[in-house]
Amino acid sequence: MTPPDDRLVQAVPGDDDVQYEAGLRPRSLGDYIGQDRVRDNLQVSISAAKGRQEALDHVLLYGPPGLGKTTLAYVIANEMGVPIRSTSGPVIEKPGDLAAMLTNLQPHEVIFIDEIHRMSPAIEEILYPALEDYELDIMIGQGPSARSVKVPLQPFTLIGATTRAGLLTAPLRARFGIVHRLDFYGQLDIEEIVRRSARILGVEIEPEAATELARRSRGTPRIVNRLLRRVRDYAQVRADGRLTDEVVRAALRMLEVDDHGFDEVDRRLLRTIIDKFGGGPVGVNSLAAAINEERDAIEDMYEPFLIQAGFLDRTPRGRVATPRAYEYFGLEAPGKGSLW
Ligand SMILES: Nc1ncnc2c1ncn2[C@@H]1O[C@H](COP(=O)(O)OP(=O)(O)OP(=O)(O)O)[C@@H](O)[C@H]1O
Ligand SMILES: [Mg+2]
Repeated sequence: MTPPDDRLVQAVPGDDDVQYEAGLRPRSLGDYIGQDRVRDNLQVSISAAKGRQEALDHVLLYGPPGLGKTTLAYVIANEMGVPIRSTSGPVIEKPGDLAAMLTNLQPHEVIFIDEIHRMSPAIEEILYPALEDYELDIMIGQGPSARSVKVPLQPFTLIGATTRAGLLTAPLRARFGIVHRLDFYGQLDIEEIVRRSARILGVEIEPEAATELARRSRGTPRIVNRLLRRVRDYAQVRADGRLTDEVVRAALRMLEVDDHGFDEVDRRLLRTIIDKFGGGPVGVNSLAAAINEERDAIEDMYEPFLIQAGFLDRTPRGRVATPRAYEYFGLEAPGKGSLW
């Protein structure tokens, strides 16, 4: 996925996010804020597996970027009290790479595969028997003398993460016993996350300031943490370091973070539907061409939040700008007012 450059409200991580985030990552389920349904369910699955002294069933976590999939994978391993090994779909190039990894696992160990929808078919094939029966089918030799041998593995847990569950093949998807979708966080959860992060960073933050930061963060922990960092800089240089409501508003104004956490692409997307396509419906391919963005980026990064926030509708005939989107630009929605 394209790096966010200096786009402050993008949910994909920038280079400087990585190290900063590591310190803010919750380590236990108790520290993991929000996503209550997912948390409750995992709590039960983990306790049950531990009670039976078994490996946890394979887990698939999906949802938009920055909502805590990687974090949750580490939390799960920590709660199970087992090591975790981490890789990603595009990184595993040869079947041998994966086989080496799987044959070296400790009992009940977690293997985390990020961007699991980008695994090659040859790698996926290796994974099927491993997931189902904890064994590898390895082909030895070539041509008529080739034969397959079965190599037993330690019981393990695969945790897969993806922003595109729809791109997973059916047989792979079917092998996950535990499947959870992470959704955008509510305002109160994001406030709690930003207060927690401020505490860890040793920054004083007023409740109103936390509210304001949360409101502009698209329901996304990664974004609120990033805004916190930038606003902290501002407070240190232009004020006394404390995050008051006033300081936060001034900082966000200077950083040009929109009231809704929209960036220029969000605005262009909505505006194009309204101006060029009469408010829609417009197919995602036409829209992608019109705003010069990848279709994937629209579906993964921009659209989910705009839909959840009520600015965009996805209908069978295409994307439609809602009355709320018109209102945002100070425009009259069609059909409203035209009849007097
Ligand atoms: N529930 C949570 N409570 C507190 N902080 C959180 C929570 N979820 C995520 N975070 C914070 O947000 C950051 C980003 O989360 P994470 O890297 O897990 O997202 P992700 O879903 O894996 O994103 P991507 O799709 O880009 O891989 C974490 O470093 C952590 O600091
Ligand atoms: Mg991740």
